[in-house]
Amino acid sequence: MEIEDAIARYGVLVFKNQSLRNDEHIAFAIHFGEVEAEPVNTGRTRLTETKLNDISNLNADGSLMKADDRRRMFSLGNRLWHSDSSFKTVPASYSFLFAHVVPPHGGETEFADMRAAWDALPVDQRTRLTKLDAWHSLLYSRELLGFSDFNADERAKYAPVRHPMSRVHPISGRRSLFISSHIGRVEGMLVPEGKELIRDLMESATQREFVHSHSWSVGDLVMWDNRCTMHRGRPFDDQRHPRDLRRVTLVDASYGKTPQPTSIFASTA
Ligand SMILES: [Fe+2]
Repeated sequence: MEIEDAIARYGVLVFKNQSLRNDEHIAFAIHFGEVEAEPVNTGRTRLTETKLNDISNLNADGSLMKADDRRRMFSLGNRLWHSDSSFKTVPASYSFLFAHVVPPHGGETEFADMRAAWDALPVDQRTRLTKLDAWHSLLYSRELLGFSDFNADERAKYAPVRHPMSRVHPISGRRSLFISSHIGRVEGMLVPEGKELIRDLMESATQREFVHSHSWSVGDLVMWDNRCTMHRGRPFDDQRHPRDLRRVTLVDASYGKTPQPTSIFASTA
């Protein structure tokens, strides 16, 4: 399929000037796999479709969320580099983010290519990383920003999960660095050592040469592959302007099933 070939090559695709109702947005995504069972809409009730993540700064009545709103505290974590649902046992494949309302300034989404980031690492570091696993939790990324006011239900729901620190893409065969701000600990390392490693890798993986910044227009549908990219939302004046983006995300059905080549050198099958 043309779109699958294109996204396997580029990692991010932009479809301009689309007009999609929520059901059409979901129907398009379903062409590419299974939608995640549960969106992360902590405390949000604005969207009734169970397959949509509400990526907005809006209350159910359309007013703007207050600065200290707990739901806003949770969503601020999306401004850190991450891979969608890396905190789930089975992480995400594609995400589809559609713009209904955009602010006049800011609010871009940036994407970093984790294949290029991997290829740029020294060989000895790649060798080391193929043997390492890291622990991810939605709460770790929120704690990074100083928000750690979690209740017992949230702590149970977002208990850390373990993933390898690199992975091979099932279509392109290319290896990617698998990091995310959801990582709080590297298996077998002391917590500060692991955090230092992640911080170092983040810095290297998000150099500008690996990053594309998308400036949103109403009607943009952006599709990306979480298996070979990271992304982050950029700030905007969310106390004055609405930004209404909605996201459908798919489960990575190939997760853990892709043969892992022994070579840690860049591959372009
Ligand atoms: Fe995201």
